[in-house]
Amino acid sequence: MNDFVYYTPTKVIFGKDKENEVGSELKKAGATKVLVHYGTGSVIRSGLLDKVRTSLNEAGIPFAELGGVVPNPRLSLVYQGIELGRREKIDFILAVGGGSVLDSAKAIGYGIPYSGDVWDFYDRKKQAEAIVPVGDILTLAATGSEMSNSSVITKDEGGIKRGYSNNLGRPVFSILDPQLTTTLPPFQTSCGCTDIIMHTLERYFTAKGNMDITDEMARGVVKTVMKHAPILLADPENYQSRAEVMWAGSLSHNGLTGCGNGGDDFATHRLEHELSGMYDVSHGAGLAALWGSWARYVMDDCLWRFRKFAVEIMDIPEEGSDRQIALKGIEAMEDFFRSINMPVSMSQLGVHPSDEEIQILARKCSDAVGGHIGAAKVLYPEDFVKIYQMAK
Ligand code: NZQ
Ligand code: ZN
Repeated sequence: MNDFVYYTPTKVIFGKDKENEVGSELKKAGATKVLVHYGTGSVIRSGLLDKVRTSLNEAGIPFAELGGVVPNPRLSLVYQGIELGRREKIDFILAVGGGSVLDSAKAIGYGIPYSGDVWDFYDRKKQAEAIVPVGDILTLAATGSEMSNSSVITKDEGGIKRGYSNNLGRPVFSILDPQLTTTLPPFQTSCGCTDIIMHTLERYFTAKGNMDITDEMARGVVKTVMKHAPILLADPENYQSRAEVMWAGSLSHNGLTGCGNGGDDFATHRLEHELSGMYDVSHGAGLAALWGSWARYVMDDCLWRFRKFAVEIMDIPEEGSDRQIALKGIEAMEDFFRSINMPVSMSQLGVHPSDEEIQILARKCSDAVGGHIGAAKVLYPEDFVKIYQMAK
C-alpha cells in the first residue's frame, strides 16, 4: 500500500442524448467564444456536429470550427488551431470526436496562452502553466482522454509521437452518450476495448506494491470489457454494452485503477507510441501486437502479479508452477485479443520493421522516456530492442 493523490476534476455527463445539453454546459463553464474541434468526417456523417451547432446557437454562444484531426493527431493542425484560437479570441475548446480530437484540443489549449512553441511541452523542455479549458463530446470509448491528464501528439516531420501529462489538461466536462459510439467500425471498437484493458493492466503490473481494492476495480474493468467487447462485435447497437465499455474507458485512465500501486508501468504504451508514430497504425491494435512480448519479457521480475492476473482476471486454474500459471494468463489474454480480431504480433499488425528500424524505434522510445521505463521491470534501450524483436 503506497500513498497516492487521486485528482479527477472532470464533470461527467453520461447518458442518452446528453450532447444536446452542450450549449448550457458551456454557459455554466463560462465560455464566451468556443472553438469546436473535430476529426475527418464521422461527426458530420452522424449528424452530431449539426446537433452541437444547434445547441450552441440556442445557448447564444458564438463559435469557430476546426475539423481535420486525423488518428495519431498532428502537430501541424495544432499550430493552425492555436493561430485560429488567438485570432478568434477563443476562451473554451470543445472537442467532438475520439481520443485524437480530444488530444489535439488539449494541445491547442496549451498553445494559445504560451508564447513559445507548444511542442516544448511534449518534448519535455517546459511545463505548461495555463490552458484554454477543454470540454468534450466523446464518440469513441478507448483512450480515457475524457478524464485523463494526457495528450498525445505526433510531430509531422519524422513521425515523432509524444505524450504530455499535466492536470491542466483534464477536461472541464465530458459528455458521454454511448449511442454516439454505435457508428464505430468493428475494428475501432476492438482497438478501443484493447486500449481500455491496457490502461488498466499498465497500472496493474507493478512490482512496487498493491491495494486489494484497486486490484478488484482493475479486475472489474478488464472483465467488464472482455464480456461486452464480443457482444458489440455481434450487436453494435447494444446500448447496455456500449455504456459498459464507455464508462470502463473513463475509469481505466482517470487514475482510479492505479491508486496505492506505487507507480505505473506504461512500457507497452511507450513502445507502441513509437510504432504508431512511425507506421501510423491504430494505437489499440499496436498495443495488442506488443503486449504479449512485453509480458513474457518482464514476467519473471513481477511473477506474483502475473500469477494473480492469471488466476483472478483470466480464470486460470491454480495448477502447476507459478510460472506456468502466469504464462497461461498471458496466453489467455492473447487469445482474447485474437477473438476480437486484434493482432498479437507486429507482422499481424502489418508492420515489418528491419533490424535497423527496430534500433530506430528503440532509440526514439528511449528519447521519449528519458532512457528507461517500467514498474513491473525497469527497461532500457537494449530491452526495448529485444521486445520489438520478440514481437516481430
Ligand atoms: O476522424 P473521424 O472521422 O472522426 O474518424 C475517427 C478515426 O478515423 C473514427 N471515429 C471516431 N468516432 C467514431 C468514428 N467513426 C465512426 N463513428 C464514431 N462514433 O475512429 C478513428 C479513430 O479515432 P481516434 O480518435 O484516432 O481513436 P482513439 O480514440 O483510439 O484515439 C487514439 C489516439 O489517442 C492516443 C493514441 O496514442 C492515439 O493517438 N492516446 C491518448 C491518451 C490520452 N490522451 O490519455 C491515452 C492513450 O493511451 C493513447 O495513447
Ligand atoms: Zn492507450
